[in-house]
Amino acid sequence: MAEIRTVGVVGAGTMGSGIAHVAAQGGLEVVVVEAQESQLERARKYIGEINARNVEKGRLSAQQADEMMGRMRFQTDLGALSAADIVVEAIYEDLEAKKEVFRAVDKIARKGVILATNTSSMSITEIGRATSRPARTVGLHFFNPAQVMKLVEVVRGYYTSDETMQEAQAFAQSLGKTAIAVQKDQPGFVVNRVLMPFLAEACKVVEEGVASIEDVDTAVKLGLNHPMGPFTLMDFTGVDVCYAVMDYFYREFGDPAYKPPLLLHQLVRAGRMGRKSGAGFYDAK
Ligand code: 3HC
Repeated sequence: MAEIRTVGVVGAGTMGSGIAHVAAQGGLEVVVVEAQESQLERARKYIGEINARNVEKGRLSAQQADEMMGRMRFQTDLGALSAADIVVEAIYEDLEAKKEVFRAVDKIARKGVILATNTSSMSITEIGRATSRPARTVGLHFFNPAQVMKLVEVVRGYYTSDETMQEAQAFAQSLGKTAIAVQKDQPGFVVNRVLMPFLAEACKVVEEGVASIEDVDTAVKLGLNHPMGPFTLMDFTGVDVCYAVMDYFYREFGDPAYKPPLLLHQLVRAGRMGRKSGAGFYDAK
């Protein structure tokens, strides 16, 4: 296995920035590629702010923070990925867009370099088939916030080789993560498959008037010891993202447990997204 010194990340949204930051914290060189210069600037600022907080709290020296930023390059040109020893794609959840990125990156990345996708639900097999190296294509699913969450799901596509699975797991572990192997390319892998019916059920409890949004969140936090209640988590993840993932699972599995609930659908139709882009279940209040 070739040593990984430089990580390429495609996409500088929440997940792309988080993954890039984790790699830089792990002492690796990082090339972040994103079409929009403004998005790259936001990513640089976001990472800089977290570093500043860590310096303030004494977890990092100012010199270490500077060195870390020095290991990160922010580029608009995919060609910069020719330097990468592994590439992790973390653009938005759209299969065609991901396939397009993989087709392009396949031509740029050196022969044998692993191409990984951070997709939370899409088929690794289909994404891999857009490349000339499906055996070197794998899912590397980090969780939000990537800097904090310990898990990475390493997902095998139909053509992914055993070596690729092992190398991808070793890479995740080298970043201080716990990797689990997902052996079948089924939508949602493990975590999202378990999570989405739980979030949908929380919406139904509110729709039926059993309890309020606030009380469901309190119940789950205190009754199950979750760090966030389901509605806070949907706002945090993005209500549009949760809706899209449930809708995709419902179509793929045909199981009503995944059917996006009315409460969530109404919020999405109203353009309330959660995160910072718009108001979600709580943000409007
Ligand atoms: N980046 C880096 N560090 C962060 C961070 C970020 N974005 N957010 C929080 N932290 C760290 C900070 O070090 C902070 O400590 P500090 O205040 O001393 O600096 C520490 O986490 C705790 O943060 P807060 O005090 O602000 O808040 P919390 O204690 O509530 O923790 C949380 C925040 C870690 C996000 C916690 O609420 C949590 O674990 N929530 C659940 C997250 C979750 O379930 N994520 C998975 C979502 S599903 C998913 O990603 C799959 C996708 O495919 C849909």
